[in-house]
Amino acid sequence: MSLDRHIILIGPMGAGKSTIGRLLSHQLNLPFIDLDRDIEARAGASIPWIFDIEGEDGFRERETQALVSALDDQPSVIATGGGCILRESNRNLLRAGGVVALLVASVQQQLTRTAKDKGRPLLEADDVEKVLLKLAAERNPLYQETADFTVDTNGKPPKLCAFEIIEQLEKGNENTNG
Ligand code: S3P
Repeated sequence: MSLDRHIILIGPMGAGKSTIGRLLSHQLNLPFIDLDRDIEARAGASIPWIFDIEGEDGFRERETQALVSALDDQPSVIATGGGCILRESNRNLLRAGGVVALLVASVQQQLTRTAKDKGRPLLEADDVEKVLLKLAAERNPLYQETADFTVDTNGKPPKLCAFEIIEQLEKGNENTNG
């Protein structure tokens, strides 16, 4: 299996990108970059604070900067934020930058996994299910067009999802554009 390219995880909030990405990085012996944490470290502020002060546009600008710098780094496992695929330029960077795995989760699963976490400004709404459904309708085609392969995370422990990603990588299930 070639480990000379980034392994990039995309997918909606609560799909398990950070948890699975960390496990995968240990198993593949690659560095792990969590873009959201990187954005926070560079800004010296939390994501809710960035959304508050700079709005979503400011956050997206920081997200692109963090993505460019992560892709410039040595081959790593990179966990992106759920909205990283929104900009066409980001999607091009992702596709060219490595093997892209889409982690999918049902809205029900997303609700369970994100329930206790207060760090997601887009989910600060009365009807979180409605927000997640709207985001899924807008974003699912973008996830699909960016991904090399998909792993269903519903009801599965993170270790099994990491194992399934490794299986796909071993099958050579990656694009040849990068
Ligand atoms: C966002 C997802 C979050 C984070 C920010 C915006 C989104 O990342 O980047 O709150 O637009 O879906 P996770 O997918 O890791 O929760």
